Amino acid sequence: MAGTRPTPADQAREEVVEAALAALDLDTKARLLAGQDMWSLPAVPEIGLKPLVMSDGPIGVRGVRWTSDDPSIALPSPTALAATWDPALARRAGRLLAQEARCKGVHVLLAPTVNLHRSPLGGRHFEAYSEDPYLTGRVGAAYVNGVQEGGVGTTVKHFVANDAETDRFTVDNVVSERALRELYLAPFEAIVENARPWGIMTAYNSVNGTTMTEHRHLVNEVLRDEWGFDGFNVSDWMAARSTVAAVEGGLDVAMPGPTTVYGPALAAAVRAGETSEARVDEAVRNVLRLAARVGALKGAEPVVTAPPAAVDGEALAREIARRSFVLVRNEGALPVPAGHTVALIGAAARDARVLGGGSATVFPARTVSPLDGLTAALPEGTLTYAVGADPSQELAAAGRGFALRAVCRDADGTVLGTGSAPSGHLQWMGDDLPEGVTHDRLHSVELTGTFTPRESGRHTFGIKGLGAFTLTVDGTERFDGVQSTDLDDPFVTFFGDPVEHATVDLTAGRTYEISLRHIVVVPADVPMRVISFTLAHQEPRRDPDELITEAVEAARAADTAVVVVATTERVESEGFDRKDLHLPGRQDDLVRAVAAANPNTVVVVNSGSPVELPWRDEVAAVLLGWFPGQEGGDALADVLTGTHEPGGRLPTTWGSLDTAPVTRVTPTDGELRYTEDLFIGYRAWEKEGRTPAYPFGHGLGYTDWTYDEIELTGTTVTVRVTNTGSRTGRETIQLYVAPTTPAPDRPARLLAGFANVEAAPGESVRTTVDLPARAFEIWDEESHSWTTVKGTYEIAAAHSLTDTRLRTTIVV
Ligand code: BGC
Repeated sequence: MAGTRPTPADQAREEVVEAALAALDLDTKARLLAGQDMWSLPAVPEIGLKPLVMSDGPIGVRGVRWTSDDPSIALPSPTALAATWDPALARRAGRLLAQEARCKGVHVLLAPTVNLHRSPLGGRHFEAYSEDPYLTGRVGAAYVNGVQEGGVGTTVKHFVANDAETDRFTVDNVVSERALRELYLAPFEAIVENARPWGIMTAYNSVNGTTMTEHRHLVNEVLRDEWGFDGFNVSDWMAARSTVAAVEGGLDVAMPGPTTVYGPALAAAVRAGETSEARVDEAVRNVLRLAARVGALKGAEPVVTAPPAAVDGEALAREIARRSFVLVRNEGALPVPAGHTVALIGAAARDARVLGGGSATVFPARTVSPLDGLTAALPEGTLTYAVGADPSQELAAAGRGFALRAVCRDADGTVLGTGSAPSGHLQWMGDDLPEGVTHDRLHSVELTGTFTPRESGRHTFGIKGLGAFTLTVDGTERFDGVQSTDLDDPFVTFFGDPVEHATVDLTAGRTYEISLRHIVVVPADVPMRVISFTLAHQEPRRDPDELITEAVEAARAADTAVVVVATTERVESEGFDRKDLHLPGRQDDLVRAVAAANPNTVVVVNSGSPVELPWRDEVAAVLLGWFPGQEGGDALADVLTGTHEPGGRLPTTWGSLDTAPVTRVTPTDGELRYTEDLFIGYRAWEKEGRTPAYPFGHGLGYTDWTYDEIELTGTTVTVRVTNTGSRTGRETIQLYVAPTTPAPDRPARLLAGFANVEAAPGESVRTTVDLPARAFEIWDEESHSWTTVKGTYEIAAAHSLTDTRLRTTIVV
């Protein structure tokens, strides 16, 4: 395999790795395979091994601390990156992330997420790329190449079939061998082949009866022996549940630590004859190889000795964002004509939701909201703003207007130390405690400080987290009690719902004292100590009809109305799946009312994954803006004003829940059967003969294209297109391959290639694409191998799945 051929430099590193391995005793080796804390492996100074540090991923590099005190660039969501259909851009994103990782002392980025968009309800949909394995593999491989060119490792995750969140620790996903090969394994295989990743992360779930951290067949036989993967295999956090079955199943590293199934338990298992030291050596070899590659092992020359040229993170975040926006409808409203007055409407236009929740969270140093972006881009006096509707019906972490710090005390009330707590969310992992504070002495943590509201009215306060809390607002105790849960996800404090405890009348501009005290009780048997809780808050809920009326008046007074609609943190996040695809709150009513008042209504959808847009034919334009990252507002202004084209194409079909062919994410008796087999995404929509709201590959620009000519030489396709519009533009030419004799067990068409071209008005350009052999193969479950299906295939050059422009045929 091209991607796994060892180079002379690899061989030199292998010699250092072997020498280091030979110098280790069993106990040290076993210790090296277990996290020493939340994010790192232990150092072994005797062999010159530094601690290997890992961090999430995928849109930024959070680093080892969970706080906005340690900010990171936040790029657009992975769905957005995939919507660019541009591997070269994904590679540049990877290089930026390597640069960020190096600054933070991180050796391995826990990314990319290459599970598939099987159901639109998947909670982490925003964190994966596409419903199509080919597109996922192309974007994923480029991302991995970019990160690793910067000398930083990746862990392609979550291997495999971690396509939903419900019961993610226990669910057994029952998937046919063919669907595994043709869909769920395919991106991993392509990335191993084309980017040679230095790591892989095995998932929480089981596949066909075996949990993935013990899946000897898929890890040892498929990933390593068949594909030639030579990186390290780390468990998802707390996914490893046994010592012997995990090590025999090919798991190299159990995270997080310090208490894991490896370490002393692994050494004991070898001594008891339950597993062999040779197997432990294999795992250690994989870890040492990683260390050698990233420059953490003395004597080994890292893969990258001179990091690539520095990347401007803010500029790249803005470029990716505008290239990711998918214009799905435009009845002439965009770009907004110069001189138009604009009414900007929507809570998310002011408080932008720039990223999805869960482990993918990073803390950017700044975020540019649509209001900020348009204020900067439009002439003074031409922009108005109205909230219109507030999608957040639940409380969120206390943010704007709060100035808080954390005070740590012992049982006698003596202050041990204080920590910064810039937002209402506090998350201390392992020994990452404020100076002077130790777990032994820590008894309580108090989030304390002030709140200066920007709006007068009834403010709501609440708490997310488990245990004993006392909440005081403006000198009055509002809650004193214990919060508990019956859910068994170990990360429930993190993903669970905030609980409302008080509503208080406050006046805008006045400053109020706030305190939330938590008694710390960390059970002794947890793998690592985490102190995590959140002061939650919600601004006064105004009468929704009044808000809509205000927005309608603003829209009526302007030439163009731009409504930003959004999901919330309680809708799209890790840890749970979605219940429906509706926009929360009164946002649908808001759009309809605004559209009725202004014929130039443009709707910007701020969500990481599909939502239903029941009014989509009643508005002048719809722009899908994803979670656009920290620079999203400026990128939006670029596209709305027309200084740049929106460049995105849908990486996933958008449709309503009741017509989507595959939706189920809830297991029955512990099993989630992938009964749809090969038919997910557009494969399924086509099979069912259903029409989605917007098809796979769809997206409009600001110019027009004709497709002039298609030519085939062997399996190389050449396409010529002409920009027939009046401005320079960019086109994503998509190639779909369809067997001319349909078979019920094969999708009607598959994406088999794509290329991006740019052309000036009137200019024609040619591009060539090599079709992969896989476009004509299926996985044969009898022979357990890929088989070419001979016959005639139609090859279509297309603007989208349903907008095919040129055709030719090939006989295979
Ligand atoms: C997630 C992983 C993540 C890990 C560490 C897990 O809950 O599933 O994607 O890398 O936590 O944060």
